[in-house]
Amino acid sequence: SAAEKDGHDWFMRKEIFEQPRAVADSLLGRRSRSGALQLDEMRLSDQELRDIDKIIIIAAGTSFYAGLVAKYAIEHWCRIPVEVELSSEFRYRDPILDYSTLVVAISQSGETADTLQAIRHARTQRSKVLAICNTNGSTIPRESDAVIYTHAGPEIGVASTKGFLTQLVACYLLALYLAQVKGTRFGDEINQVLQQLESMPDHISAVLEKSEQVYDLAREHVDSRSVLFLGRHAGYPVALEGALKLKELAYLHAEGFAAGELKHGPIALIEQDMPVLCVVPPRGRDQLHDKMISGIQEVRARGARTVCLAEEGDSSIEPYADVLITLPRVPVLLQPLVAVVPLQLFACELATAKGHDVDQPRNLAKSVTVE
Ligand code: G6P
Repeated sequence: SAAEKDGHDWFMRKEIFEQPRAVADSLLGRRSRSGALQLDEMRLSDQELRDIDKIIIIAAGTSFYAGLVAKYAIEHWCRIPVEVELSSEFRYRDPILDYSTLVVAISQSGETADTLQAIRHARTQRSKVLAICNTNGSTIPRESDAVIYTHAGPEIGVASTKGFLTQLVACYLLALYLAQVKGTRFGDEINQVLQQLESMPDHISAVLEKSEQVYDLAREHVDSRSVLFLGRHAGYPVALEGALKLKELAYLHAEGFAAGELKHGPIALIEQDMPVLCVVPPRGRDQLHDKMISGIQEVRARGARTVCLAEEGDSSIEPYADVLITLPRVPVLLQPLVAVVPLQLFACELATAKGHDVDQPRNLAKSVTVE
């Protein structure tokens, strides 16, 4: 009923708008009295964590994209090599695992069969398994050595939204916790990132306040045959997730690419007026931002209609953006938390305009319990 959906037409839309609360709840109670990061459900000892020399993240669907973001954060803050792999591939390739490997299984439902089989295999190889999960008492956390629960609350829409944002939060917390235990980052620095995370619910609310602009854009593209998404660094998984949302909900051909790969193939796809949604990294000391702009120039010169998601005050993008969606100014590693939100709104609205059932897309299930 409409009441269950808080007056929204779809559970998915309700869940998108719950994200500031979901992110805030997933951050709650994570600090000790001294302000240090603590993870209560982390049943692995500090010594066990210090012995870890490799992390393999396994997941499916949207959760896999959370894992891709986690790789950037963990490697940067903790200097531990991270592989990210689809659960369904991991299990069958004879992966190299031992007691010093931490396998992180990300699953909103905690019941995805591919991910469950993968952790069972990891444990037979004596690896430690940590689950990041939104469902208390589900099978994957029960069969894991440790768990970080996300606090999104029940997610009803088949396409994951608040589940994804809270998985990102859990991944950042895990990365910071490992950095704290391993001593690869100082307390001040960890504290600073925690504070930035604590300000994210307000930033996400600010993005949601501008949803009308995104809805108008979605309705304009209801007849598009194909939509491309570009990103770099932590924005690359965001591009992949934006494309997945359009496939799932609008049954529209959509693909996400790493912007640097354009010239190695995807640029051949560009046709006159093809919409290309670009996640622009924040301006920083590295060259990520400028490299992204040159990629945007390239596709625009070939006729693409560029929709750019860029931080406020970034005027350098204006000449190359047919449409500009501004994002709050946040560090590059945390940008997925704000950048994915307009892409969720875009897919939700485009599918609505096409008359599709957004909460129950054809051929899909909320949790896939067969391999
Ligand atoms: C299904 C859902 C997706 C979800 C994926 C992984 O395909 O439709 O939205 O991302 O499963 O689910 P999990 O519960 O393991 O995160």
